[in-house]
Amino acid sequence: MRKLLALTAFAVPLLLRSQAPTPSIAGVWKADLDKSIIPGPPNVKVTNYLSIIEEKQVVINRRTQEKGPEIDETTGVWGGPHGEERMTLSFLVTGRSVVRPYQGVPTEFTASWQGRTLSLMGETAGRPQLISRTYELSPDGQTLTVHTITTTNGRQQQSTVVMTKQPDSAAEPLRKPEELAETHFKNVKTNLKTMPASAFIDQMRYFAWALGKDCQFCHVQDDFASDEKQEKKTARDMIQMTANIDANNFKNRPEVQCFTCHEMHTHPLAYPQFADQIAAMQQQQQNRPGPNAPAGQPGATPPPPQHPPQ
Ligand code: HEC
Ligand code: HEC
Repeated sequence: MRKLLALTAFAVPLLLRSQAPTPSIAGVWKADLDKSIIPGPPNVKVTNYLSIIEEKQVVINRRTQEKGPEIDETTGVWGGPHGEERMTLSFLVTGRSVVRPYQGVPTEFTASWQGRTLSLMGETAGRPQLISRTYELSPDGQTLTVHTITTTNGRQQQSTVVMTKQPDSAAEPLRKPEELAETHFKNVKTNLKTMPASAFIDQMRYFAWALGKDCQFCHVQDDFASDEKQEKKTARDMIQMTANIDANNFKNRPEVQCFTCHEMHTHPLAYPQFADQIAAMQQQQQNRPGPNAPAGQPGATPPPPQHPPQ
């Protein structure tokens, strides 16, 4: 009996705590650049940093129509190498994981509140990259401190952005439609030209990820507009081909994408690899540094991800 009492005594405060309303970080926020630490290339000085954070209730289970809280964040950074740059981030705050595109690449996010701190963890599909972020709201609700640690191949990069709440009108530069790729860049010819410039760069990040390569696989250093590399020309044909497949077979839904065939290889496999080939690659990998198996190896090939919701 005593045991039971102790248990209920314990359960009551827990119950109360779980029912306490979570703080809201919705609103328009502007970084205090003197108090913030935003890493970037040398000689680049951020001149303005704005975020719009929205909180929504969305269906998280199509079958049961259960709803849960989602956070959508749009951030604009001015003064960087591409002029204006926008980033979008969207995740559920249910403690359950969800896969969403982040910087063009499928990322598994998990987020939950602890007191006045919202913690977000993200893992990039098929790559040794982790994002860990906290949003800390001041007791008066007027200051939001966003601390981010990105770990790539075991190397860490940190940023701290201290933001203050703004009137809704302050978000105007971020609500203006962004310049399109065809006007923002010099030499864009495919149907990617109608994408907003930042989404176009996210698409580039997706290409690099889908082929298991970096930007320099298709681009000569420091001249993205150049068509010197054959790989870039091939990629243009591939963009057209992929769009045609989806238009002709899937009512324009992006069912077939670069990853569908490439699976992080430059040359898609025509058949599964044989045991001796796998053993040879594993041997090669053991001689290579790095915590994770490199892409392009059957053992490391992740299962096909769910298409992120469009
Ligand atoms: C698989 C090949 C491929 C990879 C990898 C790739 N790109 Fe591209 N990139 C292209 C193609 C193709 C175009 C031209 C698209 C068009 O004509 O519509 C392009 C165009 C661009 C442009 C426009 C340049 C201009 O002024 O016309 C920029 C900027 C760019 N890429 C940046 C990047 C960055 C940054 C990365 C790495 C994150 C990257 N690209 C990775 C194929 C690639
Ligand atoms: C339907 C399957 C398929 C899709 C979808 C696809 N590719 Fe390919 N891609 C291939 C095949 C097969 C090859 C190899 C052709 C060869 O070996 O000559 C290839 C080759 C390439 C190459 C040349 C690699 C090299 O080493 O020269 C690039 C670059 C490329 N693809 C980019 C892309 C991009 C970017 C996308 C998405 C827009 C894409 N591909 C979508 C099948 C596909």
